Amino acid sequence: MLLKKNIFIITLISLFLLFVFNFSVLAQGEVEVFSWWTGGGEEEGLNALIELFNQNYPEVEFINATVAGGAGSNAKAVLKTRMVGGNPPDSFQVHGGAELVNTYVETGMMEPITDLLEEWGVKDKFNQQILEMSSYEGEYYSIPVNVHRSNAMFYNKKLLAENNVEPPTDLVSFIDALAKLDQAGVVPLALGDTNKWPATQIFETLLVAHLGPEGYNGLWNGKTAADNSAIRAALVDFDKIMQYVNQDHSALTWQDATQLVQEDEAAFNIMGDWAEGYLKTLGWTPDQEFGWMPVPGTSGTFIVVTDTFGLPKDAPDPENAKKWLKTIASVEGQDTFNPIKGSIPARLDADKSKYDPYLTSAMNDFAEDTLSPSIAHGSAAPEGFITALNDTINAFITTGDVDQAFENFQKNHADYVE
Ligand code: GAL
Repeated sequence: MLLKKNIFIITLISLFLLFVFNFSVLAQGEVEVFSWWTGGGEEEGLNALIELFNQNYPEVEFINATVAGGAGSNAKAVLKTRMVGGNPPDSFQVHGGAELVNTYVETGMMEPITDLLEEWGVKDKFNQQILEMSSYEGEYYSIPVNVHRSNAMFYNKKLLAENNVEPPTDLVSFIDALAKLDQAGVVPLALGDTNKWPATQIFETLLVAHLGPEGYNGLWNGKTAADNSAIRAALVDFDKIMQYVNQDHSALTWQDATQLVQEDEAAFNIMGDWAEGYLKTLGWTPDQEFGWMPVPGTSGTFIVVTDTFGLPKDAPDPENAKKWLKTIASVEGQDTFNPIKGSIPARLDADKSKYDPYLTSAMNDFAEDTLSPSIAHGSAAPEGFITALNDTINAFITTGDVDQAFENFQKNHADYVE
């Protein structure tokens, strides 16, 4: 009887120890990573990264916290509410530059991660201009997982060939090509600006075309005045180009617009190269069904959109957040994500053989071009400026009033940048 009782107690103790052991060794909590990569070519890249994370850290549960809407049109507001309300995720998607620094670093909401970059031996592995976009007063605050290009243009090769349209070489031949397609009854340019940023993104490429990269970069460091006549010229061209977009543009998302090209419904699409990732998910192959070029007038400039992830102060599980950061900082992480996402690695030692012909050409351009920060994707200027410019451009699409838009641009610049 006594023996039976002892066996029972020993079994209970062993079960208890096994439970405690399992819990501490196998389950090590969770990591909540926040982004807007929910679909249409974006989710596929993120899923590949999550898979890599799960392989490396099977004991950590990955919570994929996403809020749909291209370029963070909904996610950014949700994130801000969480951050300000003291309920941060463990890590979140944020663009390097003003979006990270003004909104979250200067306000004291982020932990510096410079020592982690050093500990992992990766600080010198990144393109330094890109990494600098995550720095403030000598410390780094986030890890760039990629570099996208905002001044990219994709086209349907079949539609161009059928209509005897050569890929344009400058803005004049581009507008001629749009007119020719229009006359042939083909939608020349696909646009989906139900969220305002895709139109602003076209405008930023035209700013670069007219100001040149130095002039454009000067808008953000005080060297270029906002009443420069090249800005007016960019508005004039924007107005011309807008005559050639699909009529239902204000009802469509960026994915819908890219899909118009893929379905032979439209010829060109000016879009960041996440559209390249999307075209591939839709089954197209670069150089076969679609071609690409920098937006006419902008070759030699690479307008940078860099997605980064950092460590918020008061992250619920900072140790697991560091595991996520270490994953995306690794060559393996970058080479897992970027070939799918349509972006190039922020690290310089990536395995180039993993990248398709479009991405290889983007890497070559990136190595040689002047880099400029994107307005539409938060890097060039504070959030207030972007919101105001989105409204200016959106109103301009309806009114076509160049002088009013030029005046508004100057006011937006004076209010938020100068
Ligand atoms: C950008 C982001 C890209 C892509 C795009 C469309 O802001 O940097 O990674 O997600 O929005 O959603």
